[in-house]
Amino acid sequence: MAKKGFYITTPLYYLNGPPHLGHAYTTVIADVIARWHRLKGEKVLFLTGTDEHGEKVLEAAQVMDKGARQFVDELSAIFKNAWDTLDISYDDFIRTTEARHKRTVKDFILAADRKGDVYKGNYKGFYCVGCESFKTESEMVNGECPDHKRRLEMRMEESYFFRLSKYQDRLLKFYKQNPGFISPAYRADEIKNRVKGGLKDLSISRENLRWGITFPLDKEHTTYVWFDALTNYISALGGRKSAKFKRFWPADVHLVGKEINWFHSVIWPAMLFSVGVKPPNKVLVHGWWLVEGQKMSKTVGNVVDPLQVVGKYSVDSFRYYLVRDAAFGEDGDFSEKKLVERINGELVADLGNLVYRALTLAEKYKGKVAGRPFENLAPKIKSIERNMDGNRLNQAMDEVWQIIRDTNKYISRTEPWKSEGKNLGNIIYNLMERIRIIAILIEPFMPSTSRRIFDQLGVKPQRLKDAKYRPFKSRIKKNGYLFVKVEVK
Ligand code: MSP
Repeated sequence: MAKKGFYITTPLYYLNGPPHLGHAYTTVIADVIARWHRLKGEKVLFLTGTDEHGEKVLEAAQVMDKGARQFVDELSAIFKNAWDTLDISYDDFIRTTEARHKRTVKDFILAADRKGDVYKGNYKGFYCVGCESFKTESEMVNGECPDHKRRLEMRMEESYFFRLSKYQDRLLKFYKQNPGFISPAYRADEIKNRVKGGLKDLSISRENLRWGITFPLDKEHTTYVWFDALTNYISALGGRKSAKFKRFWPADVHLVGKEINWFHSVIWPAMLFSVGVKPPNKVLVHGWWLVEGQKMSKTVGNVVDPLQVVGKYSVDSFRYYLVRDAAFGEDGDFSEKKLVERINGELVADLGNLVYRALTLAEKYKGKVAGRPFENLAPKIKSIERNMDGNRLNQAMDEVWQIIRDTNKYISRTEPWKSEGKNLGNIIYNLMERIRIIAILIEPFMPSTSRRIFDQLGVKPQRLKDAKYRPFKSRIKKNGYLFVKVEVK
């Protein structure tokens, strides 16, 4: 059976605290892409989940004075609820503590071992629990990990290794043959240069840590948390021999933040080479959200809780802001002030106002709604499609917004309140059809707003193929404003 489905994943989030803005961003972006492909009529598998093993999670459990098992059960439910609140249309949620996952991790280690890629040795190095990885001296700043600002401890232990170094040439060849593998392209250069500089074998087991998957070659060892976690993308399919695997692998997109690009673009493909599975089609790398120019951190006290934001505003305005405000790939800077400006200036004044005004006209009008498009939207929709397919989500959103603004301008220009008869029927026809098309195009970004527009138009939710003018078939039921203006004090 050939592959016939679109498979997109988020990283599995560490359970060391509740979800924050950064986690929400990745998950929303993945959701937008997943919904986009469903809108095109594709069969989609959208996977997210939680990374529950390792020292970092164990430490967090201890701080809360909880057993690891209870801690991850509670926190993983909190993540799941958060995604439900944010209207995330995941098809599967995998936890690395599940049996289906453990099975695949064991299969991977045994297969790599059969290939001659696993050996026992000794590790000596500086370990950062924040990154869950060893750091070279050149990566350290004043004895600390620059990302986590933690003193790094020298560790020496017996460990099993994976022959990552063996795959240097194969990886370089693979990058060359698959220029779109790491996207955006500028994220590929840093990876290629590092791989060219040489690869060290990877320590994949831990002796003094019990919270994890027992290393199948040695009961005294626990599997390294990254080797464990990366495998999830295949455990969720039921392993490398399942029917679902044949249907969905290679994954189309692994969406990741820039700090874990290395794990996904180097270690993961090498693991897959070793077990004889094709690498994913694409690692799509996004930037980081800062908050008012600063890195989010518990110490600074500026961690943004996505649930608090959507409680205060709305799910769709938060989703809209996240996609629209940061150029994909680059860092974004979260500010509540900018969020409010976008709500008032774009959601209320452009979209909400358009739908309200147009539906008011349409409801009052008793004549025949028919006419001719005042503009051919096909080239604009093609361009939106190209940008969405290329994951340039904020550019696609800009183009959708242009259609919304042009529709508002069309109202001012044609002055429907002064028109009547056929003329008015034609204006309303244009407005209703454009609004229906807009509702289709915004669905990936703002699913509930899209649904509310379809409801008011009295039509069923539609797909991308319906995004063209057709005879008017709506039954208008106007129902309030889509967005409310935020009063700024
Ligand atoms: N558990 C690993 C991933 C294993 S995947 C097999 C991990 N987890 S994490 O909880 O630290 O989540 C990292 C991801 O959260 C980042 O890659 C990114 O997608 C998202 N973000 C975390 N902080 C972020 C920002 N400040 N801004 C944007 N996204 C960031 O790494």
